Amino acid sequence: MNIILLGPPGSGKGTYARMLNAKYGFTVIGTGVILRSEIEKGTKLGKESEEFMKIGKLFPDELMAKIVAKKIDSIRNRKGLIFDGYPRTIKQAEFLDEYLESKEMKIDLVCDVLVPEKVAVERISGRWSCPKCGFIYHVKYIKPKTLGICDKCNKGLTQRADEKPGIVKKRFQEYHRLTEPLKEYYTTLGILKEVDGIGTPEEVFKRIVGLVDSIQKEKQ
Ligand code: AP5
Ligand code: MG
Repeated sequence: MNIILLGPPGSGKGTYARMLNAKYGFTVIGTGVILRSEIEKGTKLGKESEEFMKIGKLFPDELMAKIVAKKIDSIRNRKGLIFDGYPRTIKQAEFLDEYLESKEMKIDLVCDVLVPEKVAVERISGRWSCPKCGFIYHVKYIKPKTLGICDKCNKGLTQRADEKPGIVKKRFQEYHRLTEPLKEYYTTLGILKEVDGIGTPEEVFKRIVGLVDSIQKEKQ
């Protein structure tokens, strides 16, 4: 069962990817998470990607393809994959289809999480994450037990470098220009399902689970 989480910045892709992992044991491939970890480690890839991330632009397709292929190859757990933030361009989608086909795999479901820009911006502005386990909190909606501290790791929570309003605006522009055309791409393939992203995280997740379960049933 391989799933793509599609949706604008702040729609909850990272949040639902984690919840899907906890419920079904599917492995998450989060390209933003991978790039941020390379930046943190100070690698060459991290330095290159930081140049794009800090201005809200997408990292080049060819480089992203290499990262994703390597990640897919490294995964031994065959239960399923969750793509969080990949693909983001038609070229990336075509590459992913071809690559998965070469491994006799395919995408079963694309969840398009629908959230108005205003709501997504508010969610991004209140987001704090754990630098150790990556758990995503929100000051109002997903609060840690102690303000500013991760419930699991006891580490101080941090905000991302690309949360500044000007960069968020650019990330939305990139989303509309380059990622939204994927909706038509996956609609044509018959695997796109829209999910209302308004509601509590649990309510939205329940909608996603409904889709995953019905597709799992079809596959049996
Ligand atoms: P990436 O890290 O993927 O960022 P993004 O797509 O902009 O999305 P976000 O991570 O900001 O939001 P999200 O949808 O994951 O929401 P979250 O769960 O955090 O990419 C960053 C950059 O990396 C890109 O700009 C680009 O430069 C580069 N990059 C990455 N992938 C790339 C690719 N494929 N190609 C090229 N470049 C790439 O939720 C947001 C907040 O809302 C949280 O605080 C959460 O707790 C809260 N929340 C979640 N659900 C709810 C709810 N139902 N109600 C209330 N609050 C909620
Ligand atoms: Mg994310």
